[in-house]
Amino acid sequence: MQHFSHIYSSNNDCGSRRTTTSLQPPSLTLHDRVAIVTGSSRGIGRAIALHLAQLGAKIVVNYTSNSAQAEQVASEINSSSHENSARAITFKADVSDADQVKSLFDSAEQAFGSPIHILVNSAGVLDSKYPTIPNTSVEDFDRIFSINTRGAFLCCKEASSRLKRGGGGRIILLSSSIVGALKPGFGAYAASKAAVEAMTKILAKELKGSGITVNLLCLFS
Ligand SMILES: NC(=O)c1ccc[n+]([C@@H]2O[C@H](COP(=O)([O-])OP(=O)(O)OC[C@H]3O[C@@H](n4cnc5c(N)ncnc54)[C@H](OP(=O)(O)O)[C@@H]3O)[C@@H](O)[C@H]2O)c1
Repeated sequence: MQHFSHIYSSNNDCGSRRTTTSLQPPSLTLHDRVAIVTGSSRGIGRAIALHLAQLGAKIVVNYTSNSAQAEQVASEINSSSHENSARAITFKADVSDADQVKSLFDSAEQAFGSPIHILVNSAGVLDSKYPTIPNTSVEDFDRIFSINTRGAFLCCKEASSRLKRGGGGRIILLSSSIVGALKPGFGAYAASKAAVEAMTKILAKELKGSGITVNLLCLFS
């Protein structure tokens, strides 16, 4: 599966849409910046965490159940580092739980003795049964909204008050082309990500002037 990204909305470029199909060659442009990547034990979050680390950032690898895979991501980052101290740590936190999200940010600040600069909110789930809306259980609907939408809200809320202001602060949320494609079988998922898109655009406006940009990465699948 190939992913192309569309990036919408930021404080200084609100509402614009541009397409990127390749990444710049790595340089240490994020040296000493601290990044939390939610849901980075595997999948797209993992790839983002490894890339940010390659650019010099210190990484918190967040996960909710898969500690072995999270440790593997952290050890891949740490083994490629020449520094004495760890460049990556893992932290188990369910993004739908406010106290756990707070602990995630606390642990990042404490582990690296620095304010946090970057939040990438990649944790997300869909219903792999791809049910129609009438066949979607209330439990599955609630689970998808609690991780995708409530989780994004809680992480943004925490990041807005704790990310470094005055430059270098970045909040990145993930959405899906399904929001535009409106494919049957994705009702709850598409609705949960549409809410994330709206929230991203509003937060970008609310943080205008703070030096924290807010962007949405819309992935095509
Ligand atoms: N894959 C695609 O084609 C595609 C397309 C469009 C958009 N996206 C979006 O991109 C993001 C990543 O997708 P993916 O396919 O890479 O996902 P994935 O491979 O299924 O990985 C999901 C990640 O989220 C974590 N996670 C799940 N529930 C969590 C929770 N309650 N709290 C914290 N972490 C949690 C998982 O941790 P554990 O390992 O501990 O379970 C895992 O690290 C999602 O937001 C998704 O909606 C993906």
